[in-house]
Amino acid sequence: MSIDLSCEICDVTFKNPFILSSATPTKTARNISRGIEAGWAGAVMKTLVPLEYARVYPRPRFKIYWLKDQGAYPKIIPRSFSITDIEEGSHLNPEDYVKELDNAKKAVGDDGVIIGSITAGDMDTWQKYIELINGSRADILELNFSCPYAGEPGTKKKGEKLGWTLMYMAEDVLRLAKKTCSIPFTPKISSQTGEVDDWAKRFEAAGSPCLTLSHRISTLDVDIESGKPIPFGCIGGFGGPYLIGFSLKWIAKAAPKVNVPIIACMGMLEWSDTIKYIMVGASAIQSCSAVMVQGYDVVKHWLKMINDYMREHSYTSIKELRGIALNQINPPTMVERGNEGVYAVVDRSKCTGCGICKRCCFYFAIDTKEGKAEINLKNCDGCGLCHEVCPENAIVAKKIMEKDAYPRPDSKSYHGHYMPKLNSKQQEICRLSEE
Ligand SMILES: Cc1cc2nc3c(=O)[nH]c(=O)nc-3n(C[C@H](O)[C@H](O)[C@H](O)COP(=O)(O)O)c2cc1C
Ligand code: SF4
Ligand code: SF4
Repeated sequence: MSIDLSCEICDVTFKNPFILSSATPTKTARNISRGIEAGWAGAVMKTLVPLEYARVYPRPRFKIYWLKDQGAYPKIIPRSFSITDIEEGSHLNPEDYVKELDNAKKAVGDDGVIIGSITAGDMDTWQKYIELINGSRADILELNFSCPYAGEPGTKKKGEKLGWTLMYMAEDVLRLAKKTCSIPFTPKISSQTGEVDDWAKRFEAAGSPCLTLSHRISTLDVDIESGKPIPFGCIGGFGGPYLIGFSLKWIAKAAPKVNVPIIACMGMLEWSDTIKYIMVGASAIQSCSAVMVQGYDVVKHWLKMINDYMREHSYTSIKELRGIALNQINPPTMVERGNEGVYAVVDRSKCTGCGICKRCCFYFAIDTKEGKAEINLKNCDGCGLCHEVCPENAIVAKKIMEKDAYPRPDSKSYHGHYMPKLNSKQQEICRLSEE
């Protein structure tokens, strides 16, 4: 069975859905060629920025939170990690940026899609940069309105207008790009300016043929000895795999509202994330953090795993997967509630008697007796928290009987959608517990 992983975005063909997002791994033609050689379908070059200070970086400039201190590193890369850094834009000036972009295209040819990335704080500079890219060999242009660091002022200080604070002017820039840009363009939308799906609609209406959703969020950390912000003394940015749910949500909310392709960005770590992004409507996926800690070759594993997954599930093309989750995302009102007959059950052969489940049972339903956890069904709500915290997977909340054996502590008769039919003995217990 042959599997087609390719995707089309604005008539540009990507050999697979994986794009290196604009960041350190795409700062030069050499970096980009190395990525395309590893198997990436495209690369967004690091953003061209107008302000000189943003082209010069501190040394060192990276801090990775929650990576090495999570125990299993480097065997397992924890989903929790987040890179913070000061690298707002490309180190290159506009002329050298275009040369580097051209060198990248020359080096990769038809094997990879080259995407330029620009940002600016005023319309004249946007126009100048769009014209520069028009004169380059780039296949697509990304318009960056989303950097979480650039332009973020201090608490009592003014900052430059750059980064995510540019969202206010983005629609004007898109109208300009529609008139003057000679290649397809895609705005990279900040994830921290409210409703990303509303912005997506507005950006489509302003003429955008594609959307990149979304970017990191700006954050702060403080040294408790000095009270100074760390690691760089300013407001920084968090992003990475732990934010995948945030990113999936925005794509799922935007996809049904727009008719242009969406390039997902933020949160990629496992090959299965790709499938999720496509199921909520994305056409391709950009990745940065996963590459920065695992290198370009991580894409080889993702490609193999996706091929295996598609073969096992009899999918022959990415198109067949696109958007299939969207109709299945319900409002919380439709969640089945008050499920009867569900209780915690302990597998005594696995239980070590550590007591972790007991301390986390907020219904006081667990005791440890003779070195094993024991459930008091009269108190157990079937909430399942004990399973989530048990290090041995020795406890699970599951349906073990047709009806509830006892009235539930949290399911009172005044809850309209939970009206258990109690026998007389249960009614008596209920009466006593309410007294
Ligand atoms: C060190 C570093 C540099 C970055 N530089 C840029 C940049 O120049 N332009 C840009 O649009 N995004 C930049 N980003 C953001 C990434 O392109 C990406 O949007 C973000 O990290 C979220 O994706 P991820 O979860 O896969 O890391 C940078 C991120 C990092 C960590
Ligand atoms: S957390 Fe698991 S292993 Fe520990 S006492 Fe509870 S059931 Fe047993
Ligand atoms: S399912 Fe919930 S209520 Fe029941 S024992 Fe586990 S933590 Fe306690």
